[in-house]
Amino acid sequence: MTNATSNLIQHPRPIQTRTNPTTVTGPLPILKIGHVPIGFPVVQAALSGYSDGPMRIIARRLGASYTVAEVMIDRFVLDLKQRHRTRRHLHVTDEEHPVGGQLMGSDPASFGPAAQKLVEVGFDVIDINFGCPVKSTAGSCRGGYLLSEPEVAMEIVSRTREAVPSEIPVTLKMRRGLDDSAKSLDDFYRILDGAFARGVAAITVHGRTVQQKYIGPSNWDFLFDVKKHAGSRTILGSGDLFTAEACLEMLRATGVDGVSVARGAIGNPWIFSQARALAEGLSLPQPGIAEQRRVMEMQFELCLQSSDLAQTLATMRTFGIKFAQQQSHSEETRNAFARIQTIEDWQAVLDRWYPIDECTASNR
Ligand SMILES: Cc1cc2nc3c(=O)[nH]c(=O)nc-3n(C[C@H](O)[C@H](O)[C@H](O)COP(=O)(O)O)c2cc1C
Repeated sequence: MTNATSNLIQHPRPIQTRTNPTTVTGPLPILKIGHVPIGFPVVQAALSGYSDGPMRIIARRLGASYTVAEVMIDRFVLDLKQRHRTRRHLHVTDEEHPVGGQLMGSDPASFGPAAQKLVEVGFDVIDINFGCPVKSTAGSCRGGYLLSEPEVAMEIVSRTREAVPSEIPVTLKMRRGLDDSAKSLDDFYRILDGAFARGVAAITVHGRTVQQKYIGPSNWDFLFDVKKHAGSRTILGSGDLFTAEACLEMLRATGVDGVSVARGAIGNPWIFSQARALAEGLSLPQPGIAEQRRVMEMQFELCLQSSDLAQTLATMRTFGIKFAQQQSHSEETRNAFARIQTIEDWQAVLDRWYPIDECTASNR
């Protein structure tokens, strides 16, 4: 979790000087990924270390129209005896559909069988990760680094598309390039066009380079250019979506078909219902103490259904720290969540910082 946590530095709302200050007007798009209807164009991104079943279910219950599971390494999916953690991620519940499963790897040959496995366990969409900025420990090229290897990237797309039934859409997640060089830009568009030509149904573009990791803003001008280039082909945008307003702003400023909320949804699943409310011109529903407690207890219960108590407490420690940001005593609450070791500690944090009395009052 250390890597994941260090990725969580949230930058302030991007103050971007847009060379394309165009605003797309009219109603919001209705999102479709291949033949899979999604609807409201605000979805939940793949988030390693976070977007497990419970997080996805809660996002769906609170308005996300689609979610993506955290990335899985192709060869781990194929070697489940060794990989308890991956096995846990190969579980899809009825209420999650439509849900995407994401694969990352370096060997085109293993993508097909791994994608078939994801379809077998119930994922509706297969997403290929060409965005992860973390170097493979084995030194092989995968994730975002494949953006510099268009031939390998396209071979992976072909093998995956051929392996899964035609009604299952295959999608990509890309960063805007390895770096800011002309070659990276050229490679980006070669992969984008090549992937659509090979039958990919939609591409999510994160407007940062691999080299950038999470430093500096996501380039929304780039997203505007990509959507303009893609025409009727489906593009989702990613990067710096920390509020419902930012979600609608990205849709309108770039013309993308959908937006993929990532860090902004960790500890704030209400962002989805808020985006829906905002789109309908309603005032933003703010989660009171009672609502925050209800959702955290829901997540605790959902975690217990899929993992043991120790794992559930570890998950709730991680999420609690993020949920605490909704609280007026956020620092004390955050520190209290960080210390939980037992179910009694968990209960004590809820009772101290989300007391039932106050919950009842905030329900009135
Ligand atoms: C902790 C963490 C885990 C992530 N895991 C994944 C992942 O498994 N697959 C993926 O495609 N992107 C992953 N991403 C990237 C996000 O989906 C998203 O593209 C990125 O965070 C930019 O959006 P944001 O600035 O709104 O957070 C991850 C990002 C973070 C911070």
